[in-house]
Amino acid sequence: MKYIIGNWKSNKNSKQAREWIEQFAKLYKYSENVKVILSPSLSHTVEIKQYVSKKNIQISLAAQNISPYKQGPYTGEISAEQLADLVEYVIIGHSERRNYFNENDNLLEQKVQRALENNILPIYCIRSDSEFIPSSVKIIAYEPVEAIGSGQPQDPAVADAVIQKIKTNCENVKIGIYGGSVNVKNADLFLKAFNIDGVLPGRASLDAYEFTKIIQKASQIQA
Ligand code: PGA
Repeated sequence: MKYIIGNWKSNKNSKQAREWIEQFAKLYKYSENVKVILSPSLSHTVEIKQYVSKKNIQISLAAQNISPYKQGPYTGEISAEQLADLVEYVIIGHSERRNYFNENDNLLEQKVQRALENNILPIYCIRSDSEFIPSSVKIIAYEPVEAIGSGQPQDPAVADAVIQKIKTNCENVKIGIYGGSVNVKNADLFLKAFNIDGVLPGRASLDAYEFTKIIQKASQIQA
């Protein structure tokens, strides 16, 4: 099984999000070898969820963030309790959250706990194999900082070796995803690597055509 996780970050207004999902619906072909997860902004998630369930489009949704606190008086935060009936996954610890919002290991561990208490699976992002990984994490996304948004992905052989090391060192980690400048031209180099279970494209997921091409490539790779 290969994972393709589209991270829209803070992109798209409502009209653009609607156009994307309509185009995606026309292009996307379900494959049992591929787990497709889309992580739009939360402002679009309800509408996209309604659309995919009405049209029976087999993808999962992820939040890009989660509150470290349980539901309560935390203005502006979205709690795990609120996300539980909307998403199956949540991206935690993305390099942009660590960098621009000063999220540290302690806070990220609380976010992981809140997610798991509510049956949301964390996709835990790390920038290197020396980063702390909470013991309950099963899915990691290895995203070297210099590869994110730069158009310069890491050498797939290096990424493969890093993910192998992480899986060896953390026995709970079963799924290792690579992210950082993945696009339709380079995706299969990562998808074919032995230890890499999928890719997490950011910019390339903003285009429904390119995103479905990446999914198609994953579906052609033997598990
Ligand atoms: P990118 O983003 O594909 O645009 O490099 C990936 C990510 O930051 O998750």
